[in-house]
Amino acid sequence: MSGRLQGKVALISGTARGQGAAARERFVAEGATVFGGDLNTSTGEAHLDVTDEASVAAWIQRAIDAHDRIDILYNNAGAVRFAAVDDQSLEDWRFTLAAELDSVFLTCKRAWPHLKASRGVILNVGSTAGLTGSMTNQRAAHSASKGGVIALTRQLAAEGAPHGIRVNSISPGMIATPGARENLLAPHHPMRAIADAIPLGRLGTEQDVTPAAVFLCSDEAAYITGANLVIDGGWSVVLPGAQQMKENE
Ligand SMILES: NC(=O)c1ccc[n+]([C@@H]2O[C@H](COP(=O)([O-])OP(=O)(O)OC[C@H]3O[C@@H](n4cnc5c(N)ncnc54)[C@H](O)[C@@H]3O)[C@@H](O)[C@H]2O)c1
Repeated sequence: MSGRLQGKVALISGTARGQGAAARERFVAEGATVFGGDLNTSTGEAHLDVTDEASVAAWIQRAIDAHDRIDILYNNAGAVRFAAVDDQSLEDWRFTLAAELDSVFLTCKRAWPHLKASRGVILNVGSTAGLTGSMTNQRAAHSASKGGVIALTRQLAAEGAPHGIRVNSISPGMIATPGARENLLAPHHPMRAIADAIPLGRLGTEQDVTPAAVFLCSDEAAYITGANLVIDGGWSVVLPGAQQMKENE
C-alpha cells in the first residue's frame, strides 16, 4: 500500500540518521511532504535543537513559511547519557531530560496552534525504558524521561481531543540504529547479548518501527489517541527464557 499520508505535511525531528532518517524516507514514500530537522546538518537537514525553544520556534516557522500547514509532528530526536544513579551527574541527568522530555514539550507547544488548525496528529517516541526497569542498563534519567513522554502523550491526548488533535506514542525496544550501536550495542556492553532475551529472536531495525509510525500518523488511526504502541519483539512483556527454550529445541 502507498499514499497513506498523501497530502500531509509532516515535521520529523532527528532526521539525520537512525529512526528519523528511515521515517523521512518512508513518510515520503507514503505521499507526505516531510520537513525534517536535526542538530546534525551535515546531511542537509534543517538546523534544529529540540532542547532550545527559540530553535524549535524557528523550525516550526520555517515549515509554516514553506508549506503553510502542519498535519503531523513526529517527535523522534533524542540523546541520552547513561550512568548508574550514584554516578550520574546532575548535568548529565538534565542533558537527558532536556533532549528527551523538554524537547517533546517544546515542539508540541510550538506546533499546537498549527495542529489545532489542521486537526493534526502528534507521534512521540517513548521507549520500553519508560515502562520497565533494567538490570543490564543503568538508565535512571532515560527511564524517567521516556516514562515522562508516555505520560505527557496521554495528557496531550486529553487536551488535544476537543481540537481534533490525536496524540500517540511508540515505544521501541532495542533497535539497531547508529545511536544504539554507539553505546548499548558497542562490543564491550552487556546489552549486546540482549537479542537472546528478545522473544522474536533478534534486534529491531528502523524498518520495524516506521510502519507503526505511518499507521498512527495516518487517517487509518482516526479513532486512536493516547495509545503507546510497543515495538520490541515481545521483550518487555515476556519473562526471560527464550534462550533456554531455543537450547531445549
Ligand atoms: N535505538 C533504540 O534502541 C531506541 C529504543 C527506544 C527508543 N529510542 C528512541 O528513538 C528515537 C530515535 O533514536 P535513534 O536510535 O534513531 O537515535 P540516533 O542517535 O541514531 O539518532 C538520533 C538523531 O537525533 C538527533 N538529535 C539528538 N539531539 C538532538 C537535538 N537536541 N536536536 C535535534 N536533533 C537531535 C541526532 O543528531 C540524530 O540524528 C530517540 O528518541 C530514542 O530515544 C531508540
